[in-house]
Amino acid sequence: MTKLVVKGRRRLHGETTVQGAKNSALPILAAALLTGGENVFFNCPHLSDVEASCAILRYLGGTAKREDSALLVDCTGVDRWKIPDELMRKTRSSIVFLGAVLARTGRARLSLPGGCEIGMRPIDLHLRALRAMGAAISERHGYLDCKAPHGLHGAKITLSFPSVGATEDIMIAASTADGTTTISNAAREPEIGDLAAYLNKCGAKIYGAGEGVVVIDGVPSLSAAAHTMIPDRIVAATLLSCAAATGSELVLRGAVSAHLGAVISVLEEGGCRFACDGGDLRITAPERLKSLRVIRTMPYPGFPTDAQAPVMAAAATADGTSVMIENIFENRYRHVPALCRMGAQIRTEGKVAVIEGTRHLYGAKVEATDLRGAAALVTAALAAEGTGEITGVHYLERGYDGLEQTLTALGADVKKI
Ligand code: EPZ
Repeated sequence: MTKLVVKGRRRLHGETTVQGAKNSALPILAAALLTGGENVFFNCPHLSDVEASCAILRYLGGTAKREDSALLVDCTGVDRWKIPDELMRKTRSSIVFLGAVLARTGRARLSLPGGCEIGMRPIDLHLRALRAMGAAISERHGYLDCKAPHGLHGAKITLSFPSVGATEDIMIAASTADGTTTISNAAREPEIGDLAAYLNKCGAKIYGAGEGVVVIDGVPSLSAAAHTMIPDRIVAATLLSCAAATGSELVLRGAVSAHLGAVISVLEEGGCRFACDGGDLRITAPERLKSLRVIRTMPYPGFPTDAQAPVMAAAATADGTSVMIENIFENRYRHVPALCRMGAQIRTEGKVAVIEGTRHLYGAKVEATDLRGAAALVTAALAAEGTGEITGVHYLERGYDGLEQTLTALGADVKKI
C-alpha cells in the first residue's frame, strides 16, 4: 500500500511551475476523436486520468503516445463506438466521450459512469441536449445506447445548471453537427475556453466560450492541430493553500491569476499578500492565517468547488473561525473526518462546514477518499506537528503530477513509500 509520509511544520520556499490543467486535457482528448491527422499536445500533465482517456482513444482505434514534452494523438483510424466498462470506470469524466464518439461514428455505447466519491454525478443535462441534437439514446442495464444515424443537427439548448461536462460534451458534438447550436447558461470555466481554442484551431467555429452563451456553427470535418493546455488552476489553488497553511512565501510560475480570482480574494481575507509579475504569481502568507470568513462554492468565476478541500485544510490552521458552504456537490466533505483526526476542529451540517482554526494540528495516519480530499490531507500534514501518513495516494495521482516531488523541491519533507 503506497503512502505519503509527511514531516510537518516546515516552511516552504522557492518557486515551481504549475502543471497543465487536467480538466482541459480530458475534454480535449475526447474532442481529438473528431479530428483526422496527428494532434500535438503540450503541457499535458502525466496523470492517471489522462492515461485513462488515452486508453479509451487507443481502444477506439486511435493512437496516443508521449514524445519528449508532447503527447501525440492521432484518431484517423478510429472505427469503434463501444467503450468497455473497465475503461469507462477509470475516470468519472469519461462521459465527455459520449458526444465525441457519437459525432465521429454515429453510434455510441458506454456504461453509465455512475456516481463517484463526491456525489451522484447525474448526466441528465448531457442526454437532454444530445437528444435535442437528434441522438436516440436508451439507458438500459447500466448502459447508454446512442444512435444518430442521420448525424447530429444544431439545436437551441438551455442548461438548467451551468454544467462543465455538459457544456463540453455539447460543444464537441455540435462542432461537426449540421447547423448551429447555441448553449445558454453555459459553464464559464477557463477549461471551456481552452477546449474551444483547441477545437477552433481544428477548424471548428465556436464563439463566446467562457461567457454565458456559446454559439457553435457546425462544420463538415475537423483536422488535427497543435495545442498547449492552460495551467491547472486547481493545482495552483492547492499550492497556494499549502503556502497559506505553513506561513510560506512561494512563486507559482505560469499560474494565471485571472483564473484564481475567487481563491486569491479568500486567501487575502486570511492575510495573504499576492503579487503577479508576468506569468508568475507570488504568495506571501502571514505567520498564521486569519479567519477566511464565509466561502461559498459556485460555478466559475465563483469560488471553485475543487479548491474547497485544500483551502479548508488551510482554514483549519487559522486564528479564527471560517464557514464553508458547498453548493456544487452533495458529498464533498469526506475529507473532514481525517482532518479532525489530525486535530482540526470542523463541524459539518449538510452543505455547511464550520472550521474553528487551531494552532495544533498533529500528524496522524489518515486515508484519502477522493482526489481533492487527498490534497487537503497533504496540505494539513504540512502544517501539522510531527509525522503524518496518508494512504489512498492513488486518488492524488488522478490530478496531481508529482505533488510530492514539487513539495519536496519547495522545502517540504514528503516521501512516497
Ligand atoms: C467538472 O466535473 C470537473 N471535472 C470537476 O472537477 C469539477 O468539480 C466540476 O466540473 C465543477 O466545476 C472535469 O472537468 C473533468 P458539472 P463535471 O457537470 O463536469 C450537476 C476535479 O476534482 N449535474 O459542472 O462532472 C452535478 O450533479 C473534478 O478535478 C447535473 O445535475 O461537473 C453537480 O452537482 C471533480 N446533471 C453539478 O451539476 C448533469 O447532467 C456540477 O457538475 C451534469 C451535472
